[in-house]
Amino acid sequence: MIHKPSLLLSLGLASALSLSAANNVITVQTDKPGAPIQPTMYGLFFEDINYAADGGLYAEMIKNRSFEFPQNLAAWVTFGDVTVQNDGPFERNPHYVRLASAGHNDKHTGLENEGFFGVSYVKGEEYRFSVWARPPQGKPAKIRVELENPASMDNSQVNAKQEITVDSKEWMKYEVTLKPDKSCKKGKLRIFLTKPDTTPVDLEHISLFPAKTFNGHENGLRVDLAQKLADIKPGIFRFPGGCIVEGTDLDTRYQWKNTVGPVENRPVNENRWHYTFQHRFYPDYYQSGGLGFYEYFLLSEEIGAEPLPVLSVGLSCQFQNHDAEAHVPVNELQPYIQDALDLIEFANGSTDTTWGKLRAEMGHPAPFNLKFIAIGNEQWGPEYPEHLEPFVKAIRKAYPDIKIVGSSGPDSEGEQFDYLWPEMKKLGADLVDEHFYRPEKWFLAEGNRYDNYDRKGPKVFAGEYACHGKGKKWNHFNAALLEAAFMTGLERNADVVHMATYAPLFAHVEGWQWRPDMIWFDNNESFPTASYYVQQLYAHNKGTNVLPATLDGRPAAGNEGQNGLFASAVTDKTTGEYIVKVANTSAEAQNLDIVLRGLGKKGSIASGTATVLSSDDPNADNSLENPDRIKPVTSPIDASAITPTAKGTYTYSTSLEPNTFYVFKFKKAE
Ligand code: AHR
Repeated sequence: MIHKPSLLLSLGLASALSLSAANNVITVQTDKPGAPIQPTMYGLFFEDINYAADGGLYAEMIKNRSFEFPQNLAAWVTFGDVTVQNDGPFERNPHYVRLASAGHNDKHTGLENEGFFGVSYVKGEEYRFSVWARPPQGKPAKIRVELENPASMDNSQVNAKQEITVDSKEWMKYEVTLKPDKSCKKGKLRIFLTKPDTTPVDLEHISLFPAKTFNGHENGLRVDLAQKLADIKPGIFRFPGGCIVEGTDLDTRYQWKNTVGPVENRPVNENRWHYTFQHRFYPDYYQSGGLGFYEYFLLSEEIGAEPLPVLSVGLSCQFQNHDAEAHVPVNELQPYIQDALDLIEFANGSTDTTWGKLRAEMGHPAPFNLKFIAIGNEQWGPEYPEHLEPFVKAIRKAYPDIKIVGSSGPDSEGEQFDYLWPEMKKLGADLVDEHFYRPEKWFLAEGNRYDNYDRKGPKVFAGEYACHGKGKKWNHFNAALLEAAFMTGLERNADVVHMATYAPLFAHVEGWQWRPDMIWFDNNESFPTASYYVQQLYAHNKGTNVLPATLDGRPAAGNEGQNGLFASAVTDKTTGEYIVKVANTSAEAQNLDIVLRGLGKKGSIASGTATVLSSDDPNADNSLENPDRIKPVTSPIDASAITPTAKGTYTYSTSLEPNTFYVFKFKKAE
């Protein structure tokens, strides 16, 4: 029961709650299902920002595992006789370390890795350590691997250890399991030559994963984080960004071909987010490529989302690069276009094609069934359509069924936006990616943004959005509420809006560059924000078709003129449900009648539920300490509150609490 305000009313406390006198009426025409809701609604935008990939979703615990950061020993501390060599077994990652005997029995030779904000391990859990190694002198060598707690003052510093005998003369992968007897959040991984009789050993690609990963993949993902993605039931999964697609410059753009094949041979790439707009620097922020395009496709499949890769259009990040020389001349775009064509082959090609074969070798002979590709991130100016055009031509020719996503630039309106939309239409883009990180006022005013969009043009991909509270650029409930309110407009315009993804997705509490974000985490735990739950409520209750709905007799557009109420309605033809979403963005409780019309002569409502997302403090959100502070609560609706009010019409009367998002679900009687 969510009848708290009604109860208070009957107790005569209405004035205490300052209930709005107006009786709001949402009228839903249940027998006139309109536009289908696309299966691609609602989705996820993934970018390696805020340590979302390395140090986040990608479960690797060792930083700079291949010694390929520009400072080869970044994230490592060495002791004794350790040297960096560069003729290793993996041509794109040639560096490795040589541990030579220190020559004295009282000295050790070895190295320690700091991990991502520490190597965090949990008592009793298993961790898979692996290393490529060889004894350069041919004589077997022994190393010891330890998980250690540097803060421990007693002899319990070492919480797990294993020995490995490196006895193959050739480079070989060795693997052991470490099972710590204590937990440690800020631990280290230490490897050293054992004494006595130390003989040199070469070590490359030093890796540590939790034994448990999402769906058990060896090169896998953190269970809690991947599960949170799956729990959204997303329709689309966009990867790998964001600005990192463009790179700080062309050299550091995201190149998908560097992220497939054996992980040991995937070159590292500087992360464009190694510094932030607030001028904080993360000099050690590199992409290992371990979470690469194969893993992204696999994840999309496993969480039930359509994959949406985004590739460089040959323009480097235009925020940072203002000269034409920073971009690829249009007549030199062929390698970039080929990358796009090869990517489609990698995803969909038969196993006797070059790239389809690689996909099969990596473990997925069946195609990934790619349907969409985006070219260019937040590009602008005439150079964008000029660059995009040859991609469109080549992709259309080779793969006429693939849908192409273009961009409307970084702004939700204005000169570039107005210029780019018609350009995208001219080029025949199937969808146009819009980005809006905007304040409260914007979200309140834009509930009807798509009501008058061209029905014959490209479809909309609301590809990056989040309410950035004025002076409150961090996660808090009110921002989530306004996102929910705005999203009624996405839902109502299902014929135009085909994809929508909140952004960014992830943030490490110790290493973020951008907020708000949807899911926060440290090395052990994670929590969904109120914005996460808004996305989830839409995704779980998206229905199959829009239903016509009015609010107080006017189209339920939602804006400040409608008592701060925003509403939309859908039906789910597969379950026989009518779903009404209402955001009360006002600070006042409000009475509401939901009138369900067109149920048929004998039609009636059998049952209903109300899901409520609210917060006692609009400035609050969840946290590691209090992960469940804000979450949706579902209760059955008292059937007696749903009454027949005319032939084929049932009315549900309720009261809406201030600043609250509701999802009402009504099931038609059989
Ligand atoms: O989501 C963070 C950044 O915002 C993305 O990388 C970029 O596309 C946008 O400017």
